[in-house]
Amino acid sequence: MLIAGNWKMFKGPAETAGFCLELRRADVSGIEVVVCPPFVSLATAVQLLAGTDIAVAAQNVHWDADGAFTGEVSAPMLRELGVYGAIVGHSERRQYFGETDETVARRTEAALAAGLSVIACVGETETQRERGETEDVLRRQVSVLPADEQLVVAYEPVWAIGTGKSATADIAQEAHGFIKSLLDVPVLYGGSVKPDNAAELLAQPAVDGALVGGASLDVDSFTAICRASIRS
Ligand code: PGA
Repeated sequence: MLIAGNWKMFKGPAETAGFCLELRRADVSGIEVVVCPPFVSLATAVQLLAGTDIAVAAQNVHWDADGAFTGEVSAPMLRELGVYGAIVGHSERRQYFGETDETVARRTEAALAAGLSVIACVGETETQRERGETEDVLRRQVSVLPADEQLVVAYEPVWAIGTGKSATADIAQEAHGFIKSLLDVPVLYGGSVKPDNAAELLAQPAVDGALVGGASLDVDSFTAICRASIRS
């Protein structure tokens, strides 16, 4: 069971330090926990979580090792910092920053080749679900991902992200089962995971963990979700 906190564009280095010190004191033993701060806070998180089992991942990664790519960060640079992995293809990157299945594939392959773990995000929009296109969308998004031991997929229905409208356990189970039929990898659920719905979602047999946005920003709610994963 893997619980990853996607901080999005929240918490600079000072806030990150406070969060990590508090997280160190919380008991999350026995759970695979990952935090994903913004690039500028990665070094702080790596330093302050050193010696714990809590891993640190980035929220994006470029496909080249270096080059004229203003504003991007490469996999070897993240490795040098001691970062363990990266999220790739989050729906916010697809929606606001022109991420496509092709760039998701390139980022994923480069990150894996450099020794990073990857959490690759897939998921349908509300309109796509209403039109009955969910499986087509998932098939297309998953088809570009390589089978790799260091790859985890996060099923994040776009309509559930930041809306407070989580998928039902049945919807999550069905989508995860479909993704696993395409690619044999662990699948995390993401989209409005909170302490009060985590146990039910995580109890589904095809749900291997959670990618948590808003509720990962507070140590108490994040650790409550981590602990719910033990009971599930
Ligand atoms: P949320 O975000 O938990 O705030 O819905 C999840 C995500 O975007 O990864």
